Amino acid sequence: MDTLISGTVVTFTGNPFDIPATEAVQAHRGAAILVQDGKIAGIGARDALMRRHPDAKRVDHGEALIVPGFVDAHAHYPQTGIIASWGKRLIDWLNTYTFPEESRFSDPAYATRIAETYLDLLLANGTTTVTSFCTIHPASVDALFTAAEARGMRIVAGKTCMDRDTAPTYLRDTAQSAYDDSKALIDRWHGKGRATYAITPRFSPTSTPAQLDALGKLWAEHPTCLMQTHLSEQTDEIEWTKGLYPSARDYLDTYEQFGLVREGALFGHAIHLEPREIAHLQAMDCSLIHCPTSNTFIGSGLFDMGARTRESLRVGLATDTGGGSSFSMLRTMAAAYEVGQLTHTALHPAHLLWLATFGSANALHLQDRIGSIAVGMEADLTVIDLASTPAIAQRSARATDIWEAVFPTIMMGDDRAIAATYVMGERVAPAGAA
Ligand code: GUN
Ligand code: ZN
Repeated sequence: MDTLISGTVVTFTGNPFDIPATEAVQAHRGAAILVQDGKIAGIGARDALMRRHPDAKRVDHGEALIVPGFVDAHAHYPQTGIIASWGKRLIDWLNTYTFPEESRFSDPAYATRIAETYLDLLLANGTTTVTSFCTIHPASVDALFTAAEARGMRIVAGKTCMDRDTAPTYLRDTAQSAYDDSKALIDRWHGKGRATYAITPRFSPTSTPAQLDALGKLWAEHPTCLMQTHLSEQTDEIEWTKGLYPSARDYLDTYEQFGLVREGALFGHAIHLEPREIAHLQAMDCSLIHCPTSNTFIGSGLFDMGARTRESLRVGLATDTGGGSSFSMLRTMAAAYEVGQLTHTALHPAHLLWLATFGSANALHLQDRIGSIAVGMEADLTVIDLASTPAIAQRSARATDIWEAVFPTIMMGDDRAIAATYVMGERVAPAGAA
């Protein structure tokens, strides 16, 4: 059956970092989206579309903003239970909180429970696609893809690989088992329904050169997969990495030597980059994933969005939970705004909405399917109430244009602002809504 979903519909005509932001991103009051077979089949004035499709089911969201479903381009679903753990910087945080929790995913039942909890949290927060690390256990990947399939969600995930003695013994694979297990998971999941597999070395410090080499070969054999890892998150991590790879020119080179730097590579954080690294990332059309709540929470540093977008790098936005402190992409946009202020780039609400949707989808090479409201795209949609709390309502009531009305929700909003989430045109959140 056809469905007409109406409200204030946000569409994109270009990249807001290339042309004026409010030209690139437009909000249309009284508009509607026609959904047929899970895809967007039309967009137009609500009244005109209703006249043309009198038999369509109608869902009117009034003045609420309808945006593409949020795309979280880097997260760790196994860290759901340790989000907001106090007082550590990256390496200590991994050893103290993260690795012990990730060891629990040797139990498939535990992995399934957390995967389901996590995806339901995402949907409640308006996030319809995530790119997630799993743990070293193949069953942790099966758990996430299975839970996503049950919810109809388009997700990207992969088995985290770690074979070096820098990782605890209880969380180590080998170069060969990482290759074999990842390959079996690719065969099982990549391209099945809405699943995309990402080959996932955790980061150079926890892999041997032999493992990075094996994963580079695996990627060459399966070139349509993505590759996700971490790059230059903290300065002491960079020094540590250089010590472990003494022949590498820089951190990026530890991946480059093994065929892991090319289009389809997703580098989380990528804060403290050297000029050679930036030039090579640009030349190879790699994606950088900005994780602002994590970078402030773990004390990593300030990603320079202004510089990276001027260099025309693909940039996605992400929560990096549980290093990040929120599952909400609204909260993540707020943190991106604050980091922007600290790096002298005032991001407009139009930039922020675009980054959380099209920008992330483009970083994942999924921009032809998700990340914008346009004919032919999959109907993953998020509906945002711009007056979800008294504090936000009193501010947005004074707004003189749509962007002034949107910005308080970006800065102060959370899951209470998510009026509805649609996956392939089906309303999936809030729980219990028709
Ligand atoms: N670097 C390597 N592993 C991790 C992780 O789990 N979280 C973050 N923030 N950085 C990492
Ligand atoms: Zn991460």
